[in-house]
Amino acid sequence: MKLSVLYNLTRMWSGSLLFLFTQVILVSSLAPNDSCGWNITLETDAVSYVTTAGYPMEYPPSQHCTWVVTAPQPDNKIRIIFNPFFDLEDTDCNHDYVEVYDGGDELSPRMGKFCGRVAPPMIISSGSQLLIKFVTDDENNGAGFSIKLKSFKSTSQCSRNFTDPQGVITTPLFPKKYPNNLNCTFMILAPETSEIVLEFDSFDMEGDPLLLPGPKCQYDWLDIWDGLPEAGLHLGRYCGETSPGQVIAYSGILSMTVTTDHAITKEGFSANYTIHERSLPSGPKYEDKCRVNINLEIGRGNYLTSAGYPMTYPPSHECVWVLTAPEPHQKILINFNPFFDLEDTDCSHDYVEVYNGGDELSPSMGKFCGKVAPPLMTSSGNQLLIKFVTDNENHGGGFSVQYEVFKTAPQCSRNFTDPQGVIETPGFPEKYPNNLNCTFMILASNTSEIEVEFKSFDMEGNPLLQPGPRCPYDWLDIWDGLPAVSLHVGRYCGQELPHRVISYTGILSMTITTDHAITKEGFSANYTIRERSLPSGHEMKLWFHL
Ligand SMILES: *[C@@H]1O[C@H](CO)[C@@H](O)[C@H](O)[C@H]1NC(C)=O
Ligand SMILES: *[C@@H]1O[C@H](CO)[C@@H](O)[C@H](O)[C@H]1NC(C)=O
Ligand SMILES: *[C@@H]1O[C@H](CO)[C@@H](O)[C@H](O)[C@H]1NC(C)=O
Ligand SMILES: *[C@@H]1O[C@H](CO)[C@@H](O)[C@H](O)[C@H]1NC(C)=O
Ligand SMILES: *[C@@H]1O[C@H](CO)[C@@H](O)[C@H](O)[C@H]1NC(C)=O
Ligand SMILES: *[C@@H]1O[C@H](CO)[C@@H](O)[C@H](O)[C@H]1NC(C)=O
Ligand SMILES: *[C@@H]1O[C@H](CO)[C@@H](O)[C@H](O)[C@H]1NC(C)=O
Ligand SMILES: *[C@@H]1O[C@H](CO)[C@@H](O)[C@H](O)[C@H]1NC(C)=O
Ligand SMILES: *[C@@H]1O[C@H](CO)[C@@H](O)[C@H](O)[C@H]1NC(C)=O
Repeated sequence: MKLSVLYNLTRMWSGSLLFLFTQVILVSSLAPNDSCGWNITLETDAVSYVTTAGYPMEYPPSQHCTWVVTAPQPDNKIRIIFNPFFDLEDTDCNHDYVEVYDGGDELSPRMGKFCGRVAPPMIISSGSQLLIKFVTDDENNGAGFSIKLKSFKSTSQCSRNFTDPQGVITTPLFPKKYPNNLNCTFMILAPETSEIVLEFDSFDMEGDPLLLPGPKCQYDWLDIWDGLPEAGLHLGRYCGETSPGQVIAYSGILSMTVTTDHAITKEGFSANYTIHERSLPSGPKYEDKCRVNINLEIGRGNYLTSAGYPMTYPPSHECVWVLTAPEPHQKILINFNPFFDLEDTDCSHDYVEVYNGGDELSPSMGKFCGKVAPPLMTSSGNQLLIKFVTDNENHGGGFSVQYEVFKTAPQCSRNFTDPQGVIETPGFPEKYPNNLNCTFMILASNTSEIEVEFKSFDMEGNPLLQPGPRCPYDWLDIWDGLPAVSLHVGRYCGQELPHRVISYTGILSMTITTDHAITKEGFSANYTIRERSLPSGHEMKLWFHL
């Protein structure tokens, strides 16, 4: 009980400290249903704040505040970031809530209505104005919110044409994160008799959560066309961390459109292209490439492609590829390009079959045809066989499959007893591995307090507005004491930095759990063990009125 109060106070401290030096807390006395709020015109490169009266202490009841925020230039957009310490006492947003509208009045589209204790995500206007509305009823008040506002130059002017025989195409700002609200078209223009080969070196766009139904790539995506955008052959839509790999266009034009939404951005992609004279696969050469044993290298994915992909594959062929991982205990992961097209409906004429082993006596993992790409597959041993069979008629575009050595999670549990130190996810700041299950314990004497402060945090989170459990994929649990049995301080995922945590039991435990797909940078935190010193009431007052 005492601990949870202290914990909450700690949360407030870090919340208020975050903005302490950059703002004056705005306190005004309000009559019931007093209207409040004002018009804010942002200055170029300057940061401004909107804060509920009294934040981070209780806000007054019966308020109705409206702030209209305007960017300095008509072609600017506005980015708003909520302080993670967010607290509007309501569960269904009927009584106390904050709303954001994408424009200067309440007739503009509403971008969200928020309440409870989870701070809303970053929001970006599509134009140069935003309206923020804060409504409270006459009871149950929380601590309110604080919002940081900044205007920035809109970056939707990103379309470009490429005509050089070779070049590099990247998302804007690459390798930094791409901007929100992009709508760019890249076109490679070449003579009609040439082929354009595009090869992706790196790819990361906000993806769909795994295994959730709904349209593919709902948030940010790349479309690729052999021909003009929308009109040419659609080669695929890509998002997440699955690279399109190599793409070939035969029409003399390769188009890409990049679309990003108003929240969460990634590094995007970098690809190089070469324009050369067309060369379709010829018989004997193709035969050579058709029965191959491939030895995988650690840390390096590669592709297998049906000849001519994504154009028509040759008839009457049988190809067999045997993939072998270097070590007997390793597994192989294969991932088909979503542009998959084998002209058959019952897989008796044209098909691709995957065997869980080095020969065709091994168990089949599936026989695939039609236009729906097979799912992600992992071998149980260090060999996998892919067989591709075509008959003498009706040919489709074929398939492309990426293969790599499946990374099994390293042993990562560790105990910390030094008076101070740094705790990080394995490999930080590189992405953490899949399939982790680690326990970190900070062990101190029972008269000490352990303070942990997070510097950066990013674990695969629950996508915005998806129902279901919090943190279904990867997460960090923190316990004040032993893992699983002591007081549970919280479960964390996504990009929201956990607040500073103080443990008074002499043990602070963290467990990290990650699933088989999508990894992020993880976190870095530092800790200090010191003799316990509880703050007196006087000190607390000081902290709040600084
Ligand atoms: C306060 O405003 C709300 C809606 O804006 C209204 O429903 C309510 O009756 C008002 N209360 C008072 C005391 O004026
Ligand atoms: C804010 O600006 C709008 C027009 O954009 C105007 O209607 C409103 O009265 C202004 N509010 C204040 C408090 O100045
Ligand atoms: C690229 O070329 C196409 C076709 O020639 C043209 O319609 C488009 O405006 C060009 N785009 C840019 C950004 O130059
Ligand atoms: C992107 O821009 C094109 C033309 O400029 C437009 O047709 C399309 O609807 C836009 N897409 C989005 C998602 O805004
Ligand atoms: C891309 O660049 C790499 C090396 O930088 C090169 O090996 C590859 O052939 C290039 N691909 C294309 C399609 O230009
Ligand atoms: C950490 O300490 C606990 C308790 O002393 C012990 O059970 C556990 O095995 C230790 N873990 C590691 C990785 O050393
Ligand atoms: C992680 O490991 C612990 C003990 O080592 C085990 O109890 C727990 O079930 C594991 N969790 C997962 C998700 O594998
Ligand atoms: C703290 O540990 C000491 C022994 O190391 C023990 O005597 C004492 O009872 C413990 N205190 C608490 C509050 O657990
Ligand atoms: C973490 O490190 C910073 C300096 O890098 C220090 O100011 C801070 O007190 C440390 N926090 C903890 C909890 O050790």
